[in-house]
Amino acid sequence: MNHPTMQGTAPVNAPAWVKHPKLVSWVAEIAALTKPDNIYWCDGSQEEYDRLCEQMVAAGTMKRLNPAKRKNSFLALSDPSDVARVEDRTFICSEKQEDAGPTNNWTAPAEMRQTLNGLFEGCMRGRTLYVVPFSMGPLGSPIAHIGVELSDSPYVAVNMRIMTRMGKAVYEVLGSDGEFVPCVHTVGKPLAAGEKDVPWPCNPTKYIVHFPETREIWSFGSGYGGNALLGKKCFALRIASTMGRDEGWLAEHMLILGVTSPEGKKYHVAAAFPSACGKTNFAMLIPPKGFEGWKVTTIGDDIAWIKPGKDGRLYAINPEAGYFGVAPGTSEKTNFNAMATLKENVIFTNVALTDDGDVWWEGMTKEAPAHLVDWQGKDWTPETAKATGAKAAHPNARFTAPASQCPSIDENWDNPAGVPIDAFIFGGRRSTTVPLVTEARNWTEGVYMAATMGSETTAAAAGQQGVVRRDPFAMLPFCGYNMSDYFGHWLELGKKLEAAGAKLPKIYCVNWFRKDADGNFVWPGFGENMRVLSWMIDRVEGKGQGAEHVFGTTPRYEDINWNGVEFSPAQFEQVTSIDRDAWRKELALHDELFTQLKQHLPQALAETRAKLGKRLEG
Ligand code: GTP
Ligand code: SPV
Ligand code: MN
Repeated sequence: MNHPTMQGTAPVNAPAWVKHPKLVSWVAEIAALTKPDNIYWCDGSQEEYDRLCEQMVAAGTMKRLNPAKRKNSFLALSDPSDVARVEDRTFICSEKQEDAGPTNNWTAPAEMRQTLNGLFEGCMRGRTLYVVPFSMGPLGSPIAHIGVELSDSPYVAVNMRIMTRMGKAVYEVLGSDGEFVPCVHTVGKPLAAGEKDVPWPCNPTKYIVHFPETREIWSFGSGYGGNALLGKKCFALRIASTMGRDEGWLAEHMLILGVTSPEGKKYHVAAAFPSACGKTNFAMLIPPKGFEGWKVTTIGDDIAWIKPGKDGRLYAINPEAGYFGVAPGTSEKTNFNAMATLKENVIFTNVALTDDGDVWWEGMTKEAPAHLVDWQGKDWTPETAKATGAKAAHPNARFTAPASQCPSIDENWDNPAGVPIDAFIFGGRRSTTVPLVTEARNWTEGVYMAATMGSETTAAAAGQQGVVRRDPFAMLPFCGYNMSDYFGHWLELGKKLEAAGAKLPKIYCVNWFRKDADGNFVWPGFGENMRVLSWMIDRVEGKGQGAEHVFGTTPRYEDINWNGVEFSPAQFEQVTSIDRDAWRKELALHDELFTQLKQHLPQALAETRAKLGKRLEG
């Protein structure tokens, strides 16, 4: 199909396999606004991926790694100012401010559209506009949703091919009038005639904008991660959470795993931890010594779409097709499955380059190589690093890898029916106060636990690190609507399922990150987290023992299987003790959150708070 060329803009030239007039005219409209030199329609083929990668190697955006070490893999180094999500530049532009709620940045849609029109005017000059069609969820499945991202970044196009089901087949599903979420992305750096490009174009001004009512996404100024790969946080969490509110389902910042007992019984668990707090690692867990015969399989590592089934159970799917995972801290010891996933076909961003053309990051091996080129392209040695503290890899350096390459991938990972959830886990990164694991007494107390969760901030978002903030459901930066309404949605769903006679999933709160006086983690974590997981499974089966305390039920030392590890009762006490003074302060922080969220805050949560306060003082 040929579209008439507009004055002063690139020809739209939609290929014959695009049969959706509204999509074609939208592309023409965005091109008329952004004025790219060319429009390129991605087909999602391997040939196209290889070609775009080669093109970026020539442009200096990526380096090809040594094929003998990392076959068909690349390293991209970003601009040092563009390394993480920008939460203070992220906006939910609902018609009413109260629908965005107090935890989201809000601007009236009309005002934001005016700002965006100004910013996007001519923003793609000198560049190619890539039309990137993608499906979140298995192609054509009733639970999947389609998006089309228009981006002037080839880095985005190739990353989207790994992270989503991207390409021609999406148009078959779309047909001539199928629905899609329009996503417009620009790095915000137009090129004048003859101007030489930089390896990582971006703009100091950034806007990550969502219009929940019209289900649109507009992103300006960043080429990195969740700011730019718009299927992920923008669509699959912020826009999808509002779809879920309207349609009775959940879009969550959760990993999904399967765990099979030696008897062959399989359970499924979904777990929400804030960014860089252990989802990928938990999803790929390898049972440690003492758990022979147990198997953990990976369905997803970051996002879950969860819908009630006809049987009243909750079914979860992973809408993604790849992992955009934190590199630092990943090693054969801590996450063997991730390291195996990273052998080939990977895009690394902001890790260090070894002298033999491979990658390295802090924590990959005990000893750092004698010489590296760091994430800013500078020479790096362990000696200079000791003196200056310079990291070889940026703390938010990431890998983009196909999910299908993960050795622990679950046989149902792309089953459109999803997997039935037996338990939800919520966990923050807390050096103090929060015990290793607590089981909520009921759905409402579980929702309370999740709603009031605190966590120390990480490098996944720009801003100060290591400060405790409330991160309800690990969704603070990702909920596309009023957080109190979101709590209400969870409570409502529980009620509905219970009324239908369903057995609700159990809810747990965990903390792998308690530290001792020297600042070392006390709990060994990683594979050893299986010990906590298996206690949960016992509880789901109704046979696990525990002791009830103020906040719920926790295992006693003797309730956990310690076969194969040295972990003393004294150490256990260090990660499970409840300090009443610390908890008084913690509850004061819950109050602060509830004061902020008082508009629409469900009564049940305020009541739960009052009951817990009484128990604590009782
Ligand atoms: P996002 O992709 O940002 O959403 O992060 P994530 O939740 O998937 O976090 P990930 O599993 O990538 O872990 C982040 C960091 O925490 C890595 O450096 C891990 O090595 C570290 N980590 C993960 N699990 C554990 C654990 O059980 N104990 C300790 N001490 N560190 C952990
Ligand atoms: C997160 O920050 O939670 C991520 C990485 O998973 S990003 O895609 O950049 O949001
Ligand atoms: Mn995440």
